Amino acid sequence: MNGHTDILAIETSCDETAVAVVRDGREVLSNIIYTQIKLHTVYGGVVPEIASRKHIEKINYVVQKALDEAGSSLDEIDAVAVTYGPGLVGALLVGVAEAKAIAWAAQKPLIGVNHIEGHICANYIEHPSLKPPYLGLVVSGGHTHLIIVKDYAEFEILGRTVDDAAGEAFDKVARAIGLGYPGGPKIDAAAKEGDPGAIAFPKAKVNGSAYDFSFSGLKSAVLNYLNHARMVGEKPRMEDVAASFQKAVVDVLCEHTVLAAKERQISEIALAGGVSANSALREGMRRAAGEAGCRLFVPSPVYCTDNAAMIGVAAYYEYQKGVRSGWDLNAVPGLRLGER
Ligand code: KG4
Ligand code: ZN
Repeated sequence: MNGHTDILAIETSCDETAVAVVRDGREVLSNIIYTQIKLHTVYGGVVPEIASRKHIEKINYVVQKALDEAGSSLDEIDAVAVTYGPGLVGALLVGVAEAKAIAWAAQKPLIGVNHIEGHICANYIEHPSLKPPYLGLVVSGGHTHLIIVKDYAEFEILGRTVDDAAGEAFDKVARAIGLGYPGGPKIDAAAKEGDPGAIAFPKAKVNGSAYDFSFSGLKSAVLNYLNHARMVGEKPRMEDVAASFQKAVVDVLCEHTVLAAKERQISEIALAGGVSANSALREGMRRAAGEAGCRLFVPSPVYCTDNAAMIGVAAYYEYQKGVRSGWDLNAVPGLRLGER
């Protein structure tokens, strides 16, 4: 409406109520995140019912704040985007209903966005030179995908987790060693005081697939190690357990990614998702990519974990391709990457 394409984007798939205004797919005019982490901490994880209720309470306030901070009004917005999956169904429904109501009232197009695609697109915000094709590693609380981004909104999945997601492993191990929720950042911090070589946890391989991941065996290995130590009356340093566990995860993620880069002859790698905020992963991948002659792109931590700016970016490329959602857009909790 002003020579630019401004998209109002809404993200409520888990425990952040987030709204952003994004210009031309790359410039973030506002990025408001109301995080519910404190509310869920007492329960040791996200409680879906609480997440949905909090979203419905906060969403209008967060939308208004995002518009105000962008210096924008609904008149000036070109489209309304919303995450419609994957995620918690009750949480997604709040964002979807909100986006529909706004798009209907303001007579704007509605664009449903895949959350995983959003995570990948977070890289475009701060890296103007990044363009497909490139290799992407998405590591979040719910997903672990190694993919080739063939074009904007076009993906080839090379590997995925066959059991727990990387972030889920961080969260479960953090609970086991008494660090609590949210596990990823707590393990990241504790590991800084620990020795990553203290305990040799196994690096799981998945039979028949060089690119798939498995983290549940690693989680069990940590639990077994802790139980054994308790039985023989030893008290392991939790910082060492955290650092050794983290190293096992980071090594596997780096090895598979670099192998794919070599085999598929791709020289640009982008990380995405909450676990890509992990300092050891960022450092390890930088080293591994450098040794393989690849260029690494990583979003700032605020764009690694859930936010709506990434949804606005993904929506822009879908919008450019002519994608529009109908008024029957529904939440799809199990939505896969590349599916509509
Ligand atoms: O992308 P995200 O915010 O939500 C999902 O789409 O799942 O990812 C959340 C996950 C959680 O499992 C959290 O523990 C993990 O990302 N995480 C981290 C770090 N920060 C967040 N894991 C390791 N190190 C971190 N610094
Ligand atoms: Zn996410």
